[in-house]
Amino acid sequence: MSRWPAPRYGHCLITGASAGIGRAFARALASRAERLTITARRGERLALLAEELEGRHGIAVTPVTCDLLATGAVRDLLGRLEGEVDLLVNNAGFGRFGPLERFPWQDYQQMIRLNVTAMAELTFGVWKSVRARPGRGVIHVASVAGFQPLPGFAVYAATKAFVRSWSLALSAEGRGSGTRVTCLSPGPVATEFGEHARMTFDNPKPFMPVDQVVAAALRGYEAGRREVVPGLVNKVLTWGPRLLPVGVQLALARRFLSTASTSED
Ligand SMILES: NC(=O)c1ccc[n+]([C@@H]2O[C@H](COP(=O)([O-])OP(=O)(O)OC[C@H]3O[C@@H](n4cnc5c(N)ncnc54)[C@H](OP(=O)(O)O)[C@@H]3O)[C@@H](O)[C@H]2O)c1
Repeated sequence: MSRWPAPRYGHCLITGASAGIGRAFARALASRAERLTITARRGERLALLAEELEGRHGIAVTPVTCDLLATGAVRDLLGRLEGEVDLLVNNAGFGRFGPLERFPWQDYQQMIRLNVTAMAELTFGVWKSVRARPGRGVIHVASVAGFQPLPGFAVYAATKAFVRSWSLALSAEGRGSGTRVTCLSPGPVATEFGEHARMTFDNPKPFMPVDQVVAAALRGYEAGRREVVPGLVNKVLTWGPRLLPVGVQLALARRFLSTASTSED
């Protein structure tokens, strides 16, 4: 018998729900939850998604338009929530691809603020109440990029290393109270991520369908796994950094990313 209490899905909060992985989480959780709060900057997309999910599943879906980079945004978002959160899917994030000098500092600063600061502040903001009831939890969306330094993705990989480290530590803190913390580290997924990162792969890569990524994440969450890396190839990729000297890791990463091109805005 599992030592975990049954997961609670009553009220799920999903960030970055207007596209990609976040939207797929919203669709998957709509059949489990009583209520969803979905958030992102593009309010029209959220409204359409809310209408779709309410119509299909008969649950309440609250769209909250919010730029997590705005001053006080996380505090405002938490203040607008109706009731406590049973599951937080902390997903919103972006990357920039290319040598460090390709983008202005502001881009990297925003990336660090969204992928690290807003993510951490949001989990911090719900943590006490999540811990208060067994069966509640958090899913953090990191990346296989968080397992090793990546030349060409230097800042992004470092932000995801933070997410992974913080998530694994919190999973241990939550264990005693039956609080699940799962770190999801996908490899390439076909979403709008590449467009925002200004990158394209020269050869088609094994992009994983977004629904498979989310299904794997929820299976892992339900089983109480602290870490989910969907797909065999991705799992193997994450073992390289644990076994190889740093110089070899960096050379392999350079080689892999040399099959990608920088694309224009
Ligand atoms: N796709 C991949 O290959 C891949 C692989 C590993 C990990 N990941 C991670 O997965 C997560 C989701 O990415 P994705 O692939 O689904 O990319 P995506 O399709 O570009 O979606 C990103 C989401 O984040 C939201 N977002 C971006 N900036 C925001 C801001 N300032 N305030 C609030 N929301 C914001 C976007 O909504 P708005 O633009 O409407 O605000 C959108 O809903 C990210 O953390 C990413 O690092 C992606």
